[in-house]
Amino acid sequence: MIGIFDSGVGGLSALRAARELLPTRNFLYFGDTAHVPYGNRSPDAILRHTRTSLRFLCEAGVEAILVACGTASATALPRLRGEFSIPIFGIIEPTVEAALSATKNYRIAIAATKRTVESGAFSSALLCREARVRARGFPCPLFVPLVENGVLDKDDPLLHLAICRHLSPLRTFGADVLILGCTHFPLLADAIGEIYRGVALIDSGRAAATQLLSLPPRVERGECRFCVSDDPHSFENTAELLLGHAIRAERVKPHCSEF
Ligand code: DGL
Repeated sequence: MIGIFDSGVGGLSALRAARELLPTRNFLYFGDTAHVPYGNRSPDAILRHTRTSLRFLCEAGVEAILVACGTASATALPRLRGEFSIPIFGIIEPTVEAALSATKNYRIAIAATKRTVESGAFSSALLCREARVRARGFPCPLFVPLVENGVLDKDDPLLHLAICRHLSPLRTFGADVLILGCTHFPLLADAIGEIYRGVALIDSGRAAATQLLSLPPRVERGECRFCVSDDPHSFENTAELLLGHAIRAERVKPHCSEF
């Protein structure tokens, strides 16, 4: 069984891809919905919530974890990896690889949460690999609440306004690639793609899921269990919109001694 973690429904973009790539694997998805959004929280709080979530998944018996959260990958994962004995994958490296394969003019924009943009994790990973890159981060704090509330329709005027508000300097910057550096954002790809035609969108959830192919192959039952740390109903409703079928989520109470 493989664990997938996000603050909320965003990691479902990675789960969707992971199930396509590894259809016989079992997955345990944990959404820390009691603390979503992570993106405006302090690095300390993100570290604590991520640690608690990863411990919950480990105690549930997963053999590896995909941290399908840009904010946790950028701010907490470098500190936490050494605390766990199982493989823990983040989203930064594979997403950067995908962006570098797609760009032609080396101008790469990064749409992410405020905390991820402030961390500079994507920009430094891009520059480490390719000195010609000009990277620019765009914090998009309105996107996560919209996705969590199931506002995904590309014709929704509220979504249109939020996209224009956060991403309007994209054209002037001249990016040919936009990294959707928060796993909630690929769920808005249709709406973003319609406004910024011609800009290649990089789905961080999908890119991150490809890392799971490095795990030893195993045939399980192809099942998925969903757990959340707060009311499961709104998670279930949004997850149904995203996955295209109904799911049941359990409410769990992960705890951490430092809480
Ligand atoms: N999907 C997460 C990320 O990739 C969480 C965003 C949030 O909770 O603010 O950053």
